[in-house]
Amino acid sequence: MPPLYHYVRRQLRPRNHLAGLRRRNILVAVAFCFCLFYFLDSFKSPTESELLERHMNSGPPLHPFTLMKSSVDWGSIEYRHPPQKQLRHLPKPPKRSSLPSIQHRFKKEFSEARRTREERRKTVLQLTRKCWDSYRTYAWKQDALLPLSRRGTDQFSGWAATLVDSLDTLWLMGLRDEFDEAVAAVAEIDFGNSSSPLVNIFETNIRYLGGLMAAYELSKRDVLLHKAVELGDLIYGGFNTENRMPVDMINIDAAKEGSGLMVEPTVVSASPGTLTLELARLSQLTGDPKYFDAITPIIDLFYRGQNQTALPGLFPMYVSMLREDVTTGSTFTLGGGADSIYEYFPKLHALLGGGEPRLATLTRGFMHAAKRHLFFRPMIPDNDDMLISGNVNVDQAGVAHLDPETEHLACFIGGTFALAGRLLSSDEDVEVGARLTRGCVYAYRSFPTGMMPERLTMVPCLGKTKKPCAWDEQKWKTETEKQPDYKPHLPRGFTTAKDPRYILRPEAIESVFYMWRITGEAEWQDAAWDMFQAVAKGTATELGSAAVLDVTVANPKLPQDDYMESFWIAETLKYFYLVFSPPDLISLDEYVLNTEAHPFRLQR
Ligand SMILES: *[C@@H]1O[C@H](CO)[C@@H](O)[C@H](O)[C@H]1NC(C)=O
Ligand SMILES: *[C@@H]1O[C@H](CO)[C@@H](O)[C@H](O)[C@H]1NC(C)=O
Repeated sequence: MPPLYHYVRRQLRPRNHLAGLRRRNILVAVAFCFCLFYFLDSFKSPTESELLERHMNSGPPLHPFTLMKSSVDWGSIEYRHPPQKQLRHLPKPPKRSSLPSIQHRFKKEFSEARRTREERRKTVLQLTRKCWDSYRTYAWKQDALLPLSRRGTDQFSGWAATLVDSLDTLWLMGLRDEFDEAVAAVAEIDFGNSSSPLVNIFETNIRYLGGLMAAYELSKRDVLLHKAVELGDLIYGGFNTENRMPVDMINIDAAKEGSGLMVEPTVVSASPGTLTLELARLSQLTGDPKYFDAITPIIDLFYRGQNQTALPGLFPMYVSMLREDVTTGSTFTLGGGADSIYEYFPKLHALLGGGEPRLATLTRGFMHAAKRHLFFRPMIPDNDDMLISGNVNVDQAGVAHLDPETEHLACFIGGTFALAGRLLSSDEDVEVGARLTRGCVYAYRSFPTGMMPERLTMVPCLGKTKKPCAWDEQKWKTETEKQPDYKPHLPRGFTTAKDPRYILRPEAIESVFYMWRITGEAEWQDAAWDMFQAVAKGTATELGSAAVLDVTVANPKLPQDDYMESFWIAETLKYFYLVFSPPDLISLDEYVLNTEAHPFRLQR
């Protein structure tokens, strides 16, 4: 019966249609409500870092202070070797190409995971507070705490290195009273006088200037910027040389005269190479281009030389700023002496918003060469896929010889590869960063104390990264017995622990922090917790934490050194804390951290 059929269809069709519409409407409404909820939610509930900001900024300083100007006005010295008239200005970041985002897109966390993370975060906080309290009680305004002899010592000009270095850590941990008290002490520092006649420009720059600027950026306390400028002008005085290249050590009395300083014949490459980020940031913060102008010739020099060295892409460990020679030399490493020159190429690239394209070239160039020459797969019992950063000597004939020695300092490189990989959109380099970081985590886990020695050697796999690398027990034994100071007790895979100490260094947890923030993979948080527990236990003293003299032997009481470096609170504990904090606290999309873990805000 076609009519009925038609009728039914006509009756049904609109009804069906209506029902569909209604269902869709409901879905749309529900979706809308969800969106509205999240939209309002994102307005209503501030992130944890916003809450922290409010807490730290509420009310006047808990410790009022008076700014005391330094006894020398470093900004008004007449220089014998002034800069050229035309100062070079900060480059304008390219308009259209904003840099790629760095951090993993973290999802909402399950309450169980959150509880664990919060407990760990609090444990790190408690240890930091204990160390800070001891510094405050026994070494106040001195450079470092001697945790065993319960007093302080000065090694960095006596301007309270631990205090300045710790400022931003105190802020990030929400320790408002401690922070304000420290700021009041900073207001009284005299950068016109030094406890030693020579001021180390590198350490002064990364610890003090970096610390002051980062604390200013977080808290906006003007006194911190004022002190940063005083100190920045002292460092700037280090460029008062015939060729306008910086000295390594500033003779403070000669600097006051303004009559000119002598550049040393040779320095480690990290010394000039690690002034760039801080001085560029100081120009950004003050609007005064002179600091950036001062570092430009350093970038020019390293850029010109990069492909002219014995290992093109990499710089020899020793360079001459006097002769402006960064190419002669046959020893190459990413460890001590060189490390942060490489770290600062991608970081300065980020700070300048991509406005100086040569920094991307410098970054690509060194990463390419490091992968080819310095990194090796170690031969280890479980054949895990990881990389170690070694050293290379180039002989007279130009042949590169790998020395399979690495050091804790070189562990920063995993994080730098991951960061640079993101910045330059190279997933392969993020993966290389992960394998390098795994190498350091492996070293921590292998030793019976759970800590990595300061310097060690392993057996490199031949055939580099592609071929499988089978464990050869006999080969490892032979290599170990060959060593001049043969130690039969080392874990399998390690042939020496040339320097068996752990001196509270941050580089391994630094890379783990970068891997966590960049990949969001839980393995890194777990690795961080294992490392924290081992380090906290092994370095523990009644007052705080102390360097350990030998991490290769598990003793109930490890032999310790009477010293707590300022980077322990500034870097190591900060990185541990950040790994266990919500990832928006010092997001890598908002900040770049200097080599002392001091965050500088990116101008995006
Ligand atoms: C500089 O410091 C020394 C001790 O470190 C002190 O004796 C001297 O008076 C100080 N000079 C000035 C100008 O503050
Ligand atoms: C070095 O050489 C590479 C490969 O030819 C090139 O891409 C790069 O731009 C060069 N770097 C510098 C600093 O000249």
